[in-house]
Amino acid sequence: MPAARTTITVSAAHAGYEVLIEPGLLGRLGCCVAEVAPHSRALLAVDEQIADRYGHRAKESLKTAGFTTSTVPLPARESDKTLHAVEALYEVMLEGRLERGSPVIALGGGIVGDIAGFAAATYLRGVPFLPVPTTLLAMVDSAIGGKTGVNVTLPGGRLGKNLIGAFWQPKAVVVDPQLLESLDVRDFRCGLAECVKYAVLADASLLEFLSDNAADLVQLQMDLLVTLIERCVRIKVEIVEQDERDTGRRTLLNLGHTFAHAIEAHQHLDLRHGEAVSIGLAAAAHLAVLTGRLKSDERTRITKVLEGFKLPLRLPQAVEVDQLLNAMLYDKKASGGRLRLVLPTGLGTAEVTDDFPGSAVQDAWMHVGAAVVARG
Ligand SMILES: NC(=O)c1ccc[n+]([C@@H]2O[C@H](COP(=O)([O-])OP(=O)(O)OC[C@H]3O[C@@H](n4cnc5c(N)ncnc54)[C@H](O)[C@@H]3O)[C@@H](O)[C@H]2O)c1
Repeated sequence: MPAARTTITVSAAHAGYEVLIEPGLLGRLGCCVAEVAPHSRALLAVDEQIADRYGHRAKESLKTAGFTTSTVPLPARESDKTLHAVEALYEVMLEGRLERGSPVIALGGGIVGDIAGFAAATYLRGVPFLPVPTTLLAMVDSAIGGKTGVNVTLPGGRLGKNLIGAFWQPKAVVVDPQLLESLDVRDFRCGLAECVKYAVLADASLLEFLSDNAADLVQLQMDLLVTLIERCVRIKVEIVEQDERDTGRRTLLNLGHTFAHAIEAHQHLDLRHGEAVSIGLAAAAHLAVLTGRLKSDERTRITKVLEGFKLPLRLPQAVEVDQLLNAMLYDKKASGGRLRLVLPTGLGTAEVTDDFPGSAVQDAWMHVGAAVVARG
């Protein structure tokens, strides 16, 4: 693997891989791919929004490294993260005569990564996959750990997020923080919500770092950004290495997410994933205070960091609390109808638990702006 400024090795059951982090690394994408998946043909799935800006550079680099590349632009919309999008990739892969050794490269955020990763996991029963994450969320979270998948529509029309998928470990993850320069600040802040999540569940000093450097991080100060990405990736790697298949410790990464998924099921709220996570973190922290796990000043530390990044702490409009509670039970992590949640037990520690009264969950929802609708 060509040397990168930061290289983090991930061990996995079948084959480990490296996460390479370096500003400008996109220019050396071809070498990175050739090193782990040498072949003559490749597929490049690229977020259509950034295809002009970065797609050509990626393709040029792949060409220099000897790849003939078929390119598929994909819309990065949750409503398009479907099996139809995966089928569209299969068609191009078949037309381009991609073989078992042909790499699939995903240049985009979590949506493109999840779609292309699932196509790579299933085409010819699995071909090499390399995410090149282009959002902060994808760099610190979705590109690491091998979860791929798409959404489905549930009976009643509700969005079933990531319900069809596969574990498929990448061959390498190529992180070029310079790609964040074109990212909308709202999307960048969404990635910061995931960084706050890591700090709350695993590293109190990271919360300090986020709070001390908030303004410079939003200004994309590159050295700080590399440090932030590296610290978050190391936390994610440490957890996924212990629980590749998400049967235990990995559940901790769900901090704030059971609340967030219930919020995201209400599409009219028009919140992005990271914004829903931010509200979910505020709700989880409140529930942790109510159940004696967290001190209220610790909750304030968490919410202040989120606020410092201009992330929401409340629902933009009231949603009936019963609807949110029901949506929570749809979440994959609810087993046997019994709700399990990840709750902070201090700054830098968290636990998976079902030890909380239902009334406290309702109070946590009310704390972030849910409403009880009186029925006549
Ligand atoms: N697989 C996993 O482990 C995992 C983990 C967390 C989240 N996810 C999934 O990730 C998705 C969210 O991913 P995301 O937050 O990266 O969002 P995204 O992929 O939707 O991208 C967000 C927006 O940024 C644009 N964009 C992406 N990169 C850009 C760039 N460099 N410059 C300009 N614009 C750019 C996209 O076009 C889109 O409009 C969700 O579907 C979620 O379920 C998966």
